[in-house]
Amino acid sequence: MEQAKTIIITGATSGIGQATALLAASHGHRVVLAARKEADLQATAAAIHQAGGQAIFKVTDVSNRDEVQALIDFALAEYGRIDVLDLNAGVMSFAPMNEIRVDEWERMIDINVKGVLYGLASAIPVMEKQRGGQIIATDSTAGHQVGQNNTVYASTKFSVRAIMDGVRAEEAGAHIRTMMVSPAFVKTGFFADQRNANLESVPKLRPEDIAASVVFAIEQPANVDINEIVLRPTL
Ligand SMILES: NC(=O)c1ccc[n+]([C@@H]2O[C@H](COP(=O)([O-])OP(=O)(O)OC[C@H]3O[C@@H](n4cnc5c(N)ncnc54)[C@H](OP(=O)(O)O)[C@@H]3O)[C@@H](O)[C@H]2O)c1
Repeated sequence: MEQAKTIIITGATSGIGQATALLAASHGHRVVLAARKEADLQATAAAIHQAGGQAIFKVTDVSNRDEVQALIDFALAEYGRIDVLDLNAGVMSFAPMNEIRVDEWERMIDINVKGVLYGLASAIPVMEKQRGGQIIATDSTAGHQVGQNNTVYASTKFSVRAIMDGVRAEEAGAHIRTMMVSPAFVKTGFFADQRNANLESVPKLRPEDIAASVVFAIEQPANVDINEIVLRPTL
């Protein structure tokens, strides 16, 4: 078996993040779960423990710099090193620009972009000191192509791609691997929102499909840096 790693996952209580946590723990890795709702964190950790895996959790809002720093400090205090930081937490609000939903634009920028930057701010110094680590961001095919009604969401995912490409260029010498996983639609909590009911019949991936790609990238040998996996469902 690949050596067990310490993996922090944000947005670990639902959808892609939860599937990644369950799969990584089933492979023997130690997972540190982060999200805002404590009850959901407890439930996800309990499911992992019941299956014989190792998980701890910390309530974290990724749009709060201090809480992200506290998450990294917590994982370091518990396990002594951070092998992987999976910056997965993100929100999507789809609407045409002329509905002027400025509050939703700000929320997406705060969580999807600043949340990633705060994670990098806390993890890069740790990984440079360790002389190694891996940073993963959940991007999207919306980070490659803008469609109708997803302009601001896509802009946050284009931004994540720029940030992660820059970190790769700067940090490869410190043996920090960087990877983006970029799925098309995935059947997750997002589609429970009635505003997205029109997307009900669109083909979707399963959260487990994305989790398998993430764990595959994590378990590559240290000299192999998979930088992006793009996933679309068959039609
Ligand atoms: N679903 C898709 O079709 C799709 C496609 C491409 C990319 N993505 C990306 O995949 C990622 C995960 O999405 P998903 O569809 O799996 O979402 P989801 O099922 O709605 O789950 C979102 C997770 O993020 C957490 N979260 C939300 N806001 C947070 C915050 N401010 N701080 C910390 N945690 C927060 C939620 O828990 P709490 O509410 O308790 O915080 C939950 O654990 C996102 O980055 C999304 O943009 C999704």
